[in-house]
Amino acid sequence: MKVLGIAGSPRRGGNTNLLLAEVMKGAVSRGAEVKTIILNDLKITPCQHCDACLEAGKCKIEDDMQMVYRELEEADRIVLASPIQFMGVTAQMKAMIDRCQALWAKKYVLNMPPLGNKRERKGLFISVGGRKITNLFEPALVTVKTLFRILDIAYAGELLFSGVDEKGAIAKHPDALRQAYLAGQKLTEENRE
Ligand SMILES: Cc1cc2nc3c(=O)[nH]c(=O)nc-3n(C[C@H](O)[C@H](O)[C@H](O)COP(=O)(O)O)c2cc1C
Repeated sequence: MKVLGIAGSPRRGGNTNLLLAEVMKGAVSRGAEVKTIILNDLKITPCQHCDACLEAGKCKIEDDMQMVYRELEEADRIVLASPIQFMGVTAQMKAMIDRCQALWAKKYVLNMPPLGNKRERKGLFISVGGRKITNLFEPALVTVKTLFRILDIAYAGELLFSGVDEKGAIAKHPDALRQAYLAGQKLTEENRE
């Protein structure tokens, strides 16, 4: 089983990065093959709404998103990790998500499977926010669940931590990293049903 982690934070060693790394360790402990993509290291142009994908079923912009499309096709499990920025996912994550408009077109305009084959996929969402307010994660959850639904990725759950702001502070949380490790194990175990 292949597990793809997609990190949306610009902070290396930041809170969502630490959680994502634990999820991946948990998946490895169950024999999964893992790969993590750091969006901040990539060049992903925001969607230009050129509508070329409506005919081609793929995006014509030749940048690092082409690699991300290939990795999504290869993955059995997808873990999206993004901190909350201005109540949503980061710009890095949103640019990647918007470029999945090409996969929306493939599915809804051309009636083809968005990720190209009939593999059963599941997706997990990881997020952290600095504040402690009601509905902190709601807008991001709507965005991420919409992406998963459009890509035919079954929603496998989420790990959400509010009130965590300083870089690396999640490591001081009593059991967040442990929860992440166990979530990584569970994400892969479910495939054996
Ligand atoms: C541009 C920016 C916007 C932010 N907006 C929010 C916000 O709307 N709500 C919130 O609770 N925290 C907000 N934060 C704080 C981050 O969510 C918090 O520091 C988080 O721990 C960062 O996770 P990371 O280390 O994985 O990047 C913001 C941080 C930045 C840099």
